[in-house]
Amino acid sequence: MSLPIQIFACQNRTCRRDGGDRVLAALEAEIIHQGLAERVQIEQTGCLGQCGNGPMLIVVQPATHQEVWYDRVRPEEVPQLVREHLVAGRPVADMLYRHKHPKRQFPDWTPLPPPWQTIP
Ligand code: FES
Repeated sequence: MSLPIQIFACQNRTCRRDGGDRVLAALEAEIIHQGLAERVQIEQTGCLGQCGNGPMLIVVQPATHQEVWYDRVRPEEVPQLVREHLVAGRPVADMLYRHKHPKRQFPDWTPLPPPWQTIP
């Protein structure tokens, strides 16, 4: 089975003030809802050095070391992020953090393999 995708969710003071705890809760619930718990690992982090732009999430594909940054994430955006990025393999252009992705593009994300390839 491939390495799990990691999602780093900032839970430091500024991001939490801006709703980072609600984003984390929505993310945990959506990962379970979409049946991705075995393949997506959520990590709570300290400050990611981008205070004031949060809640901040980084999605990391360990096999390729690709990092996709999302800023100002709202809980209601989480299902779309999970559906489009983690399931369909298309980072959500409108949500990308412009400071890290100036063209709001991330062309070469490797999608998760379909579930039927990983179930023994
Ligand atoms: S508190 Fe989240 S980036 Fe600094």
